[in-house]
Amino acid sequence: MSTDTRHMDLPLGSASTATGQVRVRVWDRFVRVFHWSLVLCFFTAYFSTVGGPRWLHEVSGYAALALVAARIVWGFVGAGHARFASFVPRPTTFIAYAGAMLRGQEPRHLGHNPAAAVMILFLLAMVIGIGATGWMMTTDAWWGNETVEALHGLLVDATLLAVAIHVSAAVYESVKHRENLAWSMVTGTKRAPEARDDQGLM
Ligand code: HEM
Ligand code: HEM
Repeated sequence: MSTDTRHMDLPLGSASTATGQVRVRVWDRFVRVFHWSLVLCFFTAYFSTVGGPRWLHEVSGYAALALVAARIVWGFVGAGHARFASFVPRPTTFIAYAGAMLRGQEPRHLGHNPAAAVMILFLLAMVIGIGATGWMMTTDAWWGNETVEALHGLLVDATLLAVAIHVSAAVYESVKHRENLAWSMVTGTKRAPEARDDQGLM
């Protein structure tokens, strides 16, 4: 990393590590707790269908749904990179980013990049669909309805595929931009922006 980034105007909350690398706070505590709780609830709901008790499936499934509802509220009332307004891309922005990606020239983003943002919206929508169809299966009106059951399973399979892409993309971007994005979701910090980054919201 070039030394001049250490002397740039840094956002509040930035700090130097022992190696002299400047880190800035990107993900607030809500986003980090939300993310890993959602991962836990999603996989608990998934694996509890294999021999686990039904109550565990329902509790973890509804908890995933509640987490997503809270995240949607936070996307409007939260601050900085947590806000939907800071990362939901316009179609043209997404297309430009996808084109740059195909050429292997996509810039680093401090917040969610446009492709990650679209995936995030998809994952949030999928969890809502899974929760809604799951709830329907417990109602008198839809109990035993094979279409709803099939839809529940289909949405789960689509989400598993999307999660595999989501995690692969995070690994790819981590290698490409020489930073551990999954660990940033734990610590909340990322390497300070550099001149060639798409800095978006600071
Ligand atoms: C162990 C598996 C997972 C890893 C390593 C992982 C990693 C990440 C990373 C690195 C980000 C930040 C992306 C960025 O920098 O733009 C992120 C965001 C996100 N991931 Fe995952 N993820 C995992 C599983 C999941 C699962 C299972 C779901 C949902 C079913 C999910 C939903 C989300 C959402 C909604 C966000 C946006 C966070 C926010 O702004 O609130 N992830 N994930
Ligand atoms: C993220 C959350 C969830 C995931 C990952 C998930 C996953 C699954 C999976 C993989 C199955 C087996 C599907 C099959 O056999 O084809 C299943 C079945 C089922 N789920 Fe969920 N589920 C979730 C949330 C919920 C919720 C919130 C409810 C509502 C209480 C629910 C109710 C059910 C019911 C009643 C079945 C059994 C259907 C049957 O008898 O075949 N699920 N779920």
